[in-house]
Amino acid sequence: FGTSRINNNGELIIGECNTRTLKEKYGTPLYIMDESNIRERCRLFNNGLQSKHIETEVIYASKAFLTVSMCKLIEEEGLSLDVVSGGELYTAIQSSFPQERLYMHGNNKTNIELKMALEYGVGRIIVDNYNEADRIEALCQTMNTKADVMLRVNPGISAHTHEYIKTTENTSKFGESIYSDQTIELINAMNNSEYLNFHGFHSHIGSQIFDENSFLEEVSTLLSFIHSLKSNHDITVKELNLGGGFGIYYTSNDREMDIELTLKMLLGRVKGECERLDIETPKLLIEPGRAIVANAGTTLYEVGSVKETYGGKNYVFVDGSMNDNIRTALYEADYEAALANKMNGVPEKPYTITGKCCESGDIIVRQVLLPTPERNDLLAVFSTGAYNYSMASNYNRLPRPAVVFVKDGKSKLVVKRETYDDLIQYDLDSSY
Ligand code: LLP
Repeated sequence: FGTSRINNNGELIIGECNTRTLKEKYGTPLYIMDESNIRERCRLFNNGLQSKHIETEVIYASKAFLTVSMCKLIEEEGLSLDVVSGGELYTAIQSSFPQERLYMHGNNKTNIELKMALEYGVGRIIVDNYNEADRIEALCQTMNTKADVMLRVNPGISAHTHEYIKTTENTSKFGESIYSDQTIELINAMNNSEYLNFHGFHSHIGSQIFDENSFLEEVSTLLSFIHSLKSNHDITVKELNLGGGFGIYYTSNDREMDIELTLKMLLGRVKGECERLDIETPKLLIEPGRAIVANAGTTLYEVGSVKETYGGKNYVFVDGSMNDNIRTALYEADYEAALANKMNGVPEKPYTITGKCCESGDIIVRQVLLPTPERNDLLAVFSTGAYNYSMASNYNRLPRPAVVFVKDGKSKLVVKRETYDDLIQYDLDSSY
């Protein structure tokens, strides 16, 4: 992907940086992010969603991968930012991210988080439910301000993806169903509120979706809903945020999604449906996370030992663990991997890549064909840019890896490797 290539010694080069040199400089495990690839993906979405007829905006879903440097990159590329917690918001604030381009999500925002969002003046707060709308109103009253809000709605569309990352079954915890009378009441209340500027709807139908039809169905369903609100309640909806979820290639079992074509189809559907229903075309927003960063990331590990079990399974032990990539254990996710110092080696046997955790479920790659691995070889796992660093943990008190950005033969550290002292920094040896 991106700027990766193999040099004459069979070594993996990313962003013109040799992975061997990166290991020497920063150690392993190491998250390597190909900056040019991230920027290219930002532009693919930004350019792809341009339209003469429709106002549009691309928001990066920061949960996929967020650091201060990433905020700056997103700002430079002209995307907006979706944050779902005080912590993500704080990161954006510390990076001086323009407040009007921030979208504050979350199904259970605390009053402290809401106050933080209002004080910083985020562009939109995406309201999840009735109770939250009430709390925002109360806060606005005390703070003598108004909040720009959207409502997260659930269109009840079933996208074909892993159960844990589906979001719009009618039993989902997110948003309010467009089929419920209470939701209409809530929209009316928000629209008439003295403290809320109601702008429109947000919905997110799931993640790692390849079927364009799921997105098109989302558009049609929501525009019909918008039409019924106009006809029956005289409510005008000015903005429609379709969420993220664009699928990416992890292994040859996934197909490469044609983002340009998908966006063109989305724009076409919006225009067509608005004309057919005779409603004002809302501003169209999308919120990709994974599709911006996943393929840009590679995790680099060092091989500790190789074990062939009595039962015939071959393991490669690396110096990382499920802590730096929980997706395999959590979603049975698959990854491609290679020996970064033997890229031209002939794959011989299937191996399971496992780490240092005291769990049989500590699997990083379930199965990959490799040339015979040896101690101190470097193992690269591909497409780990999304939901790897951001979901990392310290189980077994393993320090989290460092993150480097690479570009044009240069590397920069964007997250330091954790130390043992970091691990105990909040521990107190206190008494009752
Ligand atoms: N917008 C909202 C409101 C979301 O909840 C999400 C993801 C996104 C945008 C971005 O979705 P994306 O384009 O990245 O698919 N940890 C899981 C993915 C969970 C996604 C949660 N929400 C994984 O590793 O696959």
